[in-house]
Amino acid sequence: MYDILIVGSGPAGYVAAIRATQLGMKVGCIEQSSIGGTCLNIGCIPSKSLLDSSYKHYQLEDQYSNHGIQVNDVSIDLKRMMSRKDAVVEQLTNGVGTLFKSSKIDLIEGKAKVTSINSVEVTKNGSSELLEAKNTIIATGSCPVELNNIKFTSNIVDSEGALKFEKIPEHLLVIGAGIIGLELGSVWARLGSRVTILEAQQDFLPMLDPRMSRQILREFNRQGLDIKFGSIVSDINETNTEVEVTYQEKGKEINLKVEKIIVAIGRKPNTFDLFSKDLVSLDDKGFIGVDEFCQTNTKNIWAIGDVVRGPMLAHKASEEGIMVVERIFGKNTQLNYTHIPNVIYTHPEIAWVGINEKELNNLEIDYKSGSFPFAASGRALASGETIGSVTIHADNQTDKILGIQVFGPSASEILQQGLIAMDNEITSEKFSSTIFSHPTVSESLHEATLAMNQKAIHILNRKKKI
Ligand code: NAI
Repeated sequence: MYDILIVGSGPAGYVAAIRATQLGMKVGCIEQSSIGGTCLNIGCIPSKSLLDSSYKHYQLEDQYSNHGIQVNDVSIDLKRMMSRKDAVVEQLTNGVGTLFKSSKIDLIEGKAKVTSINSVEVTKNGSSELLEAKNTIIATGSCPVELNNIKFTSNIVDSEGALKFEKIPEHLLVIGAGIIGLELGSVWARLGSRVTILEAQQDFLPMLDPRMSRQILREFNRQGLDIKFGSIVSDINETNTEVEVTYQEKGKEINLKVEKIIVAIGRKPNTFDLFSKDLVSLDDKGFIGVDEFCQTNTKNIWAIGDVVRGPMLAHKASEEGIMVVERIFGKNTQLNYTHIPNVIYTHPEIAWVGINEKELNNLEIDYKSGSFPFAASGRALASGETIGSVTIHADNQTDKILGIQVFGPSASEILQQGLIAMDNEITSEKFSSTIFSHPTVSESLHEATLAMNQKAIHILNRKKKI
């Protein structure tokens, strides 16, 4: 009998498995596809590989000449770019495989079904075996939502298909201006596609403060992403070579012929045929019901990552895996769900954590804010990366940092520094007394914090206090 059987080997499952063996437990991990899940195989890693490759091309075409570097005859070898991406994926998935072997985790290939509080049935090539475990962790992840039940094809693709185009589409339509739509739209726009994005809502990136979203939209428009808000697709017809889309925008019906469509309208949890409903309960959207510690309604059955409430993020999934395993072991581990960082890996990157202006107002919190534009950062100017800004919000009474938003160079890394302060409940006053190296783009976070207390040095403070 296993101490823990884990269903799924994505960032939720494989991290839980490794942590469990560190605690001396006997662990099995069941996987029906490739080890590493969506993140390593068809999500975070391959998309970041193409984002980085395409950004290098964009820099060559649009930025190097500003630095006095003239490059002629730039061309793209898409096949090579794709095989580099595949090699990165292979290296990482092999790495997880090696970690499994050295940690003595049993990797069990097949499709799992949780049959009782202590048993999981695994089916492969038509034959089944029943495995027994004291605890079961469900970490089966999520899959893309289809638009109007239209099946994905070679021209109408999801985020996985969008990483495998064999040729750069002349005109690409992306449906959904969310995280995936913006990242993948950026990849293909940088490689030369004309990119149109249809977004059903009127708001752009509503999780950010409106000033920040407006700034981002201006920059993406400048980069050639044509985002049409309030656009609802009513029909899609496909021929061998193109796809015709009909959508409504401001009451008008518009027809558009494009080469490829990426559907990026959200993801749904993989919970179909995984267990009987009386064993584990689901909510009306198909997510597994869990408490704050990821325990389901059945003792000894846990669920983590994209199959449960909260953002569908690899790092959230991994931390839930660690929390559950440590709790099974008897520790009191818990997560602070308000401190989960979010990043959109466009260029510039967009990163945020904590509460935004709208939420602060709704919660009637007495707060103060500070912002600093990268245009005023010496380092950003030197490297030609002056688009964007940092905004920070803190509680006026306690001085604790409540939210940070960054749009600009190395936004993901800058955010992390502020998040360490938030997690350790360091006040903005104390944080602003930290010495930041000069010249770095991180100084912009420092200056935004100083600006919040009317002490910024390199911009005018809104209200002067001595
Ligand atoms: P999303 O929720 O971020 O964005 C979907 C967008 O599509 C929304 O703006 C929504 O209003 C719009 N939409 C919905 N239905 C529509 C329709 N019929 N027509 C036009 N627009 C429509 O979902 P997305 O981008 O698919 O990503 C799914 C999840 O995957 C994200 O929530 C995120 O948690 C995760 N993810 C995270 C990444 C990261 O951390 N960088 C990268 C990729 C995915």
